[in-house]
Amino acid sequence: MKKDLISLADLSSSEIWDILNLAQELKEEWAAGGNIPRLVGKSLGMIFQKPSLRTRVSFEMAMKHLGGHALYLSPDEIQLGKRESVADVARVLSRYVDGIMARVFAHSDLEELARYSRVPVINGLSDYSHPCQALSDLFTILEKKGRLTGLKLAWVGDGNNVLHSLLFGCSKVGMDIVAATPEGYEPDGQVVEMAFAFARESSSTVELTNDPVAAVKGADVIYTDTWVSMGQEAEQKKRLEVFPPYQVNAALVSRARPDVIVMHCLPAHRGQEITDGVADGPHSVIFDQAENRMHVQKAILAILLGGR
Ligand code: CP
Ligand code: NVA
Repeated sequence: MKKDLISLADLSSSEIWDILNLAQELKEEWAAGGNIPRLVGKSLGMIFQKPSLRTRVSFEMAMKHLGGHALYLSPDEIQLGKRESVADVARVLSRYVDGIMARVFAHSDLEELARYSRVPVINGLSDYSHPCQALSDLFTILEKKGRLTGLKLAWVGDGNNVLHSLLFGCSKVGMDIVAATPEGYEPDGQVVEMAFAFARESSSTVELTNDPVAAVKGADVIYTDTWVSMGQEAEQKKRLEVFPPYQVNAALVSRARPDVIVMHCLPAHRGQEITDGVADGPHSVIFDQAENRMHVQKAILAILLGGR
């Protein structure tokens, strides 16, 4: 049966580790001169309803390095659900390609693509989650800290799609996670409930707070993201008034562990959720995160498209 990657809630911790381990192997192989072409003759259709730098380029280069081909389908091209129903797009596209990656607004569109596609469907970000980002972030943390279990990640900012995937990912692998958000901007309640359940199994903790200073105390990782996600442009003015106390700046970073790493999925809005000093400072690993998208997605592609 085909496998999709729609939400990290669907993966076991051993499946997550399998991806991280293969990503490590593929990253080393790449550094040693290039990857074995595991996906010769395979192609990936990439549907975008929203803009992208990292997701588009890292998936495209991942396919190229593995000997396959990627097809970029812009927001104007398919017009998912407008020019044609989501189900029909899935039925047609999956007759041509070996895998589909989609970046959408409504998460239900991804689920519908997966339901009607004959080939694996990968979530390249929805309003609900961003699993490829969180898997790459776990990989980056592992690379920097040498372990995951027992570490503490402090999220500071909006309770958004990236946080949802980190809540699933951390609670599955046994990392403690605390999210400091303004009141009214907490992560989705169902996601939090699921993360609590996963954390009980992995003996880790999930906490919510409105206090960024309390959140970063003892943190090994501080993570932030934009205050205004794609699709929330109409709320921009209000959000820019609410969020400034949640800026990741030098004062906040000094309240964490001295060896804390600072993460951001990018794109960054410098001077808003993160200062230049922190983004370009000694704790920042934001560009390693961006690079690791490519290595981790190679592992995902090799596993799902059958080229490992
Ligand atoms: N982090 C991330 O997904 O970046 P893009 O929006 O540029 O793809
Ligand atoms: N939360 C952000 C992530 C961008 C990669 C957004 O959805 O716009």
